[in-house]
Amino acid sequence: MGLLQVISIVFVVYLFGNTGALPVQEELRKVFHRQRRNARVLIASSTTSRRCNQTLIGSGYAFHTSTSDVSLWYKNGWFMAVHHDGNINGTSEARSPDIKLQLQSVGRSLVRIFSKQTCLYVAMASTGKVYTTEEPTDETVFQQTQESNGFETFASNKHFTPISRDLRRHFFLSMRKNGHIKNGKRSTRNHKTTQLSVMQSRETS
Ligand SMILES: *[C@@H]1O[C@H](CO)[C@@H](O)[C@H](O)[C@H]1NC(C)=O
Ligand SMILES: *[C@@H]1O[C@H](CO)[C@@H](O)[C@H](O)[C@H]1NC(C)=O
Repeated sequence: MGLLQVISIVFVVYLFGNTGALPVQEELRKVFHRQRRNARVLIASSTTSRRCNQTLIGSGYAFHTSTSDVSLWYKNGWFMAVHHDGNINGTSEARSPDIKLQLQSVGRSLVRIFSKQTCLYVAMASTGKVYTTEEPTDETVFQQTQESNGFETFASNKHFTPISRDLRRHFFLSMRKNGHIKNGKRSTRNHKTTQLSVMQSRETS
């Protein structure tokens, strides 16, 4: 039932109320209440967050030891957003539910970035492409580093280019100026497209 129909019923109820046609009024009132109840149920089910199946354990990593609810805010102004269609990009909307993420600790400085509302993990492929997946594979594990200026960076733990025996060129999670995620292979550590603030969310999980 549309808003217009509800409004017209309310109007009719009001009219009958004034003329004293009680049985019809009572009937309409019941219809109206039933519709309202349905609407409430609909609203309740759409706001309850989906329960994610987190019994899957990613290759080589134990189940996370701790979690924190965060938003990731890039130095260039974008929040990282994971959308219901599986797309990952930037939004400037600080109140968007799509920026609510969870950091799952899976080792020393190793985290997964998980979106509870979509049940998707952020991942990086060997090509440097960033994508989302339901499975906590080893491509979903990132090295979290606090840089000297206080900002954080996230680099793929699995994929990198070896430069020498103990030097690696990391693939970072970077956000382009236009709000699209950058290919990890083209990212650099000391750049505002790569550096972000981990903002703790007030809401508890
Ligand atoms: C969760 O995933 C595991 C592994 O794929 C599967 O065995 C299990 O049935 C799933 N549970 C639910 C509730 O879907
Ligand atoms: C980000 O992705 C969402 C969902 O696919 C889309 O609606 C939105 O326009 C995208 N934003 C940018 C900045 O590309």
